[in-house]
Amino acid sequence: MSDKREIDEVTGVETTGHTWDGIKELNKPLPKWWLMTFYASIVWAIGYMIVYPAWPTLNGYTKGIWGYSQRATVSEELQGAKAAQATFRAALEKTPLAEVKNNPDLLRFAMVGGASAFATNCAPCHGRGAQGFAGYPNLNDDAWIWGGSLADIEKTILYGIRSAHNETRRSDMPKFGTDGMLTPDQINDAAEFVLSLSKRATDQAAVARGAKTFADQCASCHGPEGKGNPELGAPNLTADIWLYGGKKTDIVQSIVTGRGGAMPAWDGRLDPVTLKSLAIYVHSLGGGK
Ligand code: HEC
Ligand code: HEC
Repeated sequence: MSDKREIDEVTGVETTGHTWDGIKELNKPLPKWWLMTFYASIVWAIGYMIVYPAWPTLNGYTKGIWGYSQRATVSEELQGAKAAQATFRAALEKTPLAEVKNNPDLLRFAMVGGASAFATNCAPCHGRGAQGFAGYPNLNDDAWIWGGSLADIEKTILYGIRSAHNETRRSDMPKFGTDGMLTPDQINDAAEFVLSLSKRATDQAAVARGAKTFADQCASCHGPEGKGNPELGAPNLTADIWLYGGKKTDIVQSIVTGRGGAMPAWDGRLDPVTLKSLAIYVHSLGGGK
């Protein structure tokens, strides 16, 4: 073979001496750097297969001498996160509601938990942004029917309003129309007086008559000036913020039926840490009282 080596005339490169049908092969070896990389990757691949899991076997796979497993890594990380959560949960359970705000980390934990529990349990009635709907109060404003302190809000959430719980918040506005306690004219006048509390009355004579009815029938709950009473869940009628609408027809309807909206109790349905988180979250929405 070597005897057939020669220098190719056209390229000036030595041939290997192989010829096929008169075609000669030039002696052009692979570049050194390429070969080195090629051999290096073979060595690396063998090393990888020894160290890491690589080959399927009949009943599993080769584990590799380092025993590495992504699943183990992930579950280790999850364990870590769970442990951190458990620490926070335990701390939140022990910390009195009013003192949570003194610990920024705990407060953040409670806020995140509260927001998520709110989205699941409360948003269907109060709206995703807690903005409320007719009959379901807005929890973002600073107007609270049953009181806006942390303790008030916690109590509302725990026991509900007109709920089945023994300790539920409850007070029932009489059904002045349905039960025939007031005549339609008296109801009209009382409604006109209620409108006057937010400076929207149009019939001053009716307002004057309604003022008397209000003092006799309504002031015991809504207060002599209509400012409401959180002890009785009687809304403030002077702020022009309405649970059931502020048009005259809405107000007449409220007087006729007494409304009686209900909110379920959450005591026993959610765990104590979640309930605490909810109270803190809702309190933060409404301009803290
Ligand atoms: C089935 C509907 C419903 C669900 C679910 C619900 N609520 Fe309510 N919520 C109401 C109604 C209705 C009222 C107003 C009751 C009333 O006083 O007439 C209310 C009132 C409140 C109040 C008192 C507002 C005030 O001005 O004093 C708070 C606080 C509150 N809800 C928080 C929550 C939280 C937190 C959740 C979730 C754990 C929740 N609610 C779930 C219907 C609901
Ligand atoms: C026993 C207490 C009580 C008495 C008496 C009472 N109310 Fe109420 N009133 C309430 C309560 C509680 C609510 C809230 C009802 C609800 O949340 O479903 C309410 C709601 C209302 C509302 C609806 C407010 C809104 O934001 O939409 C109006 C209007 C109103 N009352 C007017 C009157 C008038 C007028 C009278 C007298 C004729 C009267 N109330 C007597 C307790 C009372």
